[in-house]
Amino acid sequence: MCGIVAYIGKKEAYPIVIKGLERLEYRGYDSAGVALLKESKINLFKEKGKVQDLKNKAANEDVSGTSGMGHTRWATHGEPNMVNAHPHLSGNGKIALIHNGIIENYAALKTTLESRGHVFQSDTDTEVLVHLIEEIQSKNNLDLAEAVRISLGEVTGAYAIVVMSTDEPDILVGARKGSPMVVGIGKDEFFMASDATPIIEYTKNVVYLEDEEIAVINRKGKLSIKTISNEDVAPAIQELKMEIEALEKGGYDHYMLKEIFEQPRSIYDSMRGRIDSTKGDIHMGGLEEYRNTLMNAKRIIVVACGTSWHAALVAEYLFEDLARIPTEVEYASEFRYRNPVIYEDDVVVAISQSGETADTLAAIELAKQKGATVLGVCNVVGSSIPRATHAGAYTHAGPEIGVASTKAFTAQVTVLIQMALWIAYNRGAINQAKLTRYLVELEAIPAKVEKTLKCAEYAKELAKMIASSDNALYLGRGYNFPIALEGALKLKEISYIHAEGYPAAEMKHGPIALIDENMPVIVLATKNSQYEKTVSNIQEVKARKGKIFAIVTKGDTEVKEMADYYIQVPDCPEELSPLISSIPLQLISYEVALLRECNVDQPRNLAKSVTVE
Ligand code: F6R
Repeated sequence: MCGIVAYIGKKEAYPIVIKGLERLEYRGYDSAGVALLKESKINLFKEKGKVQDLKNKAANEDVSGTSGMGHTRWATHGEPNMVNAHPHLSGNGKIALIHNGIIENYAALKTTLESRGHVFQSDTDTEVLVHLIEEIQSKNNLDLAEAVRISLGEVTGAYAIVVMSTDEPDILVGARKGSPMVVGIGKDEFFMASDATPIIEYTKNVVYLEDEEIAVINRKGKLSIKTISNEDVAPAIQELKMEIEALEKGGYDHYMLKEIFEQPRSIYDSMRGRIDSTKGDIHMGGLEEYRNTLMNAKRIIVVACGTSWHAALVAEYLFEDLARIPTEVEYASEFRYRNPVIYEDDVVVAISQSGETADTLAAIELAKQKGATVLGVCNVVGSSIPRATHAGAYTHAGPEIGVASTKAFTAQVTVLIQMALWIAYNRGAINQAKLTRYLVELEAIPAKVEKTLKCAEYAKELAKMIASSDNALYLGRGYNFPIALEGALKLKEISYIHAEGYPAAEMKHGPIALIDENMPVIVLATKNSQYEKTVSNIQEVKARKGKIFAIVTKGDTEVKEMADYYIQVPDCPEELSPLISSIPLQLISYEVALLRECNVDQPRNLAKSVTVE
């Protein structure tokens, strides 16, 4: 949610900053801007729209300078337009600032600053911060880093910021609280960014800033870090494991399609080193320290948002069905504010692709305050959630750049299946023979996903029948119910068709009123313990002339006969079936979005990483 990138060194900053913005564009894309420092002057270029629009605008301008920073915005305060785009300048034009997050007390600060003669150009909270830094610096005659430090002591809210000043052209100052920030350390050059993706092609050495830390990067090769309370911090340099190829489209038209097709690999990667069916072994190394706590947990609470919340629902079925532990699933945004009852022997599992979702982070903090054990299931290594939780398991799906989550979801479900099996076996809820059978089936999943992906051509055909609809209904029972929700979310977020997911049996309690010959009803009717019940629900839809698009198990005859259109998928145990049945739904959404000429990778109003509440 808002991407920030900055460079200082000997090279030209603009190409590095622009490329970085393109890599970060998944975080927000309603406007973009860059500031370049050259000969004691800040040159500012801003434009509404995509990074490409900014590039077009700057095409014939002087964009030289060896210190620069850029921002791609997802609007919170102030509509997306050129004036509200970052960077923002101080009143005297000497300081520029980019910001990801929200300054919550901006209104009070603005009033005070206005009374001291500051004049604001934009409607943003960010502009208040740059004026505050200017005010504090000039009043106390401070250097930039100190002025930033003292100013941050006066703001409440979340931020990752980078600040430049014409008075100190050889440094950039960055800071974070609640929003991510990585410093890249090259040879005689430094980078700062919201995540490592803009940095990876220049250096693998990075420092993840902690909350309330301020970093000063100096063209002369020096990095210094302090806390807001003025204590020096020794930089903890880490090596990035990511490869640059993982950030490219690799011949696919869209990141989303690439990520859908990567799933045999990403599912395999999320099991690698954890299971071995030949030995009947399962290890969850990251959770080992909390083995006893988990085995004795009276209750598990799973918190997440969006697609990750759908993975949490799958976890509820798994933890209760396999491990026999009572499990509750909560939207992180509701959980954090509704004064929930949390016991010290509760285990809270937080699921997040980005590891930065503000509501999920807040839910984790609340659970920790109440004394619960908090475990994370995250994709982005080194992000905030794995650092905030007591322990956890990474999903290892690799970078997910398409805004609509696909491979991260199936990797989350794969990790949750393994967690459930690990707990179930260690608690004695399943025996060795049963565990081994599941492990054999789990190891077979990547090949089955590969087979399922062959339905891409059928998905195109089905998409043609759905693309002109205004609404769609997704139905499923048991393990297929969360997948119905996820299918509906995928369709609405990238094709803007209104879609609802329902437990198939709930349909008759209301949504059935919507069904007529124009309503596509996508039914997950794979062979599971509730197959016959699902067949009855299909009959109810057909009786009202609804159009049935069924996902069926290969070899099925009954539903195939009833359905208007169908896609066949390989058979597998129902506990693992979300990994298979979500694939055709992802492909259908993708194809529908293409037919409707929507921007698949960057759907309107959305952003990949939601770092504001
Ligand atoms: C939907 C989607 C979002 C995210 C949600 C949580 O395709 O991607 O609904 O799942 O914003 O994000 P994470 O998983 O990063 O916490």
